[in-house]
Amino acid sequence: MRTLLIPICAAAVFALPAQADRLPIPANAPPSFAAECGGCHLPFPPALLTAPDWKQVMARLDKHYGDNASLDEKTRRELEDFLVRHAATDRRKAGAGDPPRLTESVWFRREHREVPQAVWNDARVKSAANCAACHTRAEAGSYREREIVVPGLGRHK
Ligand code: HEC
Ligand code: HEC
Repeated sequence: MRTLLIPICAAAVFALPAQADRLPIPANAPPSFAAECGGCHLPFPPALLTAPDWKQVMARLDKHYGDNASLDEKTRRELEDFLVRHAATDRRKAGAGDPPRLTESVWFRREHREVPQAVWNDARVKSAANCAACHTRAEAGSYREREIVVPGLGRHK
């Protein structure tokens, strides 16, 4: 029993979720991900929405939050498979909205509850989806507290 339990415990330790402030784009992302999902906004980390939510987003690219982000079926499929494969497993990452928004998830709201409303309305921010407005290294998938500079409020910590 002992010999069996030890490796299982070790695996459980290493299977802990990645650090909350590191949200890198998985290295096996197809090149179409940056090209097709990074043109209008930064390519959002797949781990920020659940698989059912990504399916909803990808099913309605022609009505994409007021924009048209349609793709040919082959690319759409490829990107949906990639997003679903790396999706959040945490139910708190489910987003409200139509299509669902990661910025409407319980997780996102909790992480950002200290951000005053005036900041969200600031012309330099405009939208909660504009991660790079405050997270200076968001493009690199890094959301560490000491890298946060909030427009109008300055460095976070
Ligand atoms: C033609 C421009 C365009 C393209 C291409 C595009 N998007 Fe978007 N996307 C938008 C706009 C506009 C919004 C709304 C942003 C806002 O509310 O500030 C948005 C919002 C989102 C949101 C919700 C953000 C939130 O508030 O939680 C997700 C998720 C998203 N896009 C995923 C994708 C994915 C995946 C792709 C690639 C398949 C993609 N987008 C391609 C324009 C685009
Ligand atoms: C208006 C500025 C602003 C915008 C825009 C913003 N954030 Fe944040 N974010 C913050 C602040 C401030 C904190 C730290 C809150 C705290 O101290 O508890 C934070 C915290 C976080 C954390 C937790 C970091 C940690 O150390 O655990 C993550 C992850 C994160 N944000 C991701 C995002 C993502 C992804 C987006 C875009 C979809 C985004 N944020 C948009 C200001 C912002």
